[in-house]
Amino acid sequence: MRTLVTGAAGFIGSNLVDSLLADGHTVVGIDNLATGRIGNLDSAFRHDTFVFVETGVAQRELAEIVREVAPDVVFHLAAQVDVRKSVGDPCSDAGTNVLGTINVAEACRQAGTRRVVFAASGGSRYGTPTALPIGEDAPPHPLSPYAAAKVAGELYLAAYADMYGMAPISLALSNVYGPRQDPRGEAGVVAIFGNALLHGYPGTIYGDGTATRDYVYVGDVVDAFRSAGTAPESLTGTFNIGTGVQTTTTELHRMMAAALGIDDPPVYAPARTGEIQAIALDHTAAHQRLGWDPHVDITAGIDHTIAWLRDTLDLSGSATVTA
Ligand SMILES: NC(=O)c1ccc[n+]([C@@H]2O[C@H](COP(=O)([O-])OP(=O)(O)OC[C@H]3O[C@@H](n4cnc5c(N)ncnc54)[C@H](O)[C@@H]3O)[C@@H](O)[C@H]2O)c1
Repeated sequence: MRTLVTGAAGFIGSNLVDSLLADGHTVVGIDNLATGRIGNLDSAFRHDTFVFVETGVAQRELAEIVREVAPDVVFHLAAQVDVRKSVGDPCSDAGTNVLGTINVAEACRQAGTRRVVFAASGGSRYGTPTALPIGEDAPPHPLSPYAAAKVAGELYLAAYADMYGMAPISLALSNVYGPRQDPRGEAGVVAIFGNALLHGYPGTIYGDGTATRDYVYVGDVVDAFRSAGTAPESLTGTFNIGTGVQTTTTELHRMMAAALGIDDPPVYAPARTGEIQAIALDHTAAHQRLGWDPHVDITAGIDHTIAWLRDTLDLSGSATVTA
């Protein structure tokens, strides 16, 4: 299969690239390295079936690239991913997350690529849900420019399906964690706690720690993208990709500290505004239509992530941590 992955140097994108290459597919990776790291593609560059193009998804040249590659599937993961930045500069956020997605859709239309798999946001799509886990039939209720732009992306792709017979699938991802998540990023609490604990710090919880999230392991998310990429073209629409399980922030911290043999409690700081209290996604539709289920439970996922952090972080000079 000839594939093109936008956001290829990012956390989820680079894991997807490695998985596609391992199965013998051709991959053209696109990324402007805004938050992605070229080092995430070290193993990809060892394949002669991989090509990387450093450019932005909203750039005009994208259409030419997609036309030349003529991919069977485009996986569109490139995005401005910081909710706070989207609040501070909503036009810039929309430039990448709305115009970039339209540019991808247009490029695919011109190249004759029907299947686009889009990274939508299940964590922000539903606003403040009252009943959990929440299904895709609940109306979108974006509460930030980031959330609105992601829903706009879904809607544009749905319009392209109606207008041009394209076959988009949007995967509404819950809180993804695992190797290559940037521990210095704004989000990504598993990587952030892991980084703090491995450096001998307790880690900070904003709020009282009772807020819940639905943590899904990156390997499972890659499987969801792969399943969507090969699904029959008649299948389009939005599918939740999450475990349906809620984990509180305090419980997550406890599990991570336990995995590292640390007893110290976290530090609690005032809650940050705009954070929802609870979310978990019902993935029944993904199970039925994509044959997708999460397989990595959170304990195993935490172990994989900690192992990766140990290999990656410079821990020289850190307080001693016993494993
Ligand atoms: N991580 C999560 O929990 C989560 C949850 C829901 C949805 N998503 C979505 O999944 C996708 C991947 O997220 P991630 O967590 O891997 O984040 P990430 O920041 O690691 O990856 C995003 C990638 O997009 C690239 N990028 C940004 N702007 C670009 C542009 N204009 N042109 C080309 N490339 C650009 C970045 O350099 C980066 O490599 C995003 O679309 C994000 O919104 C992630």
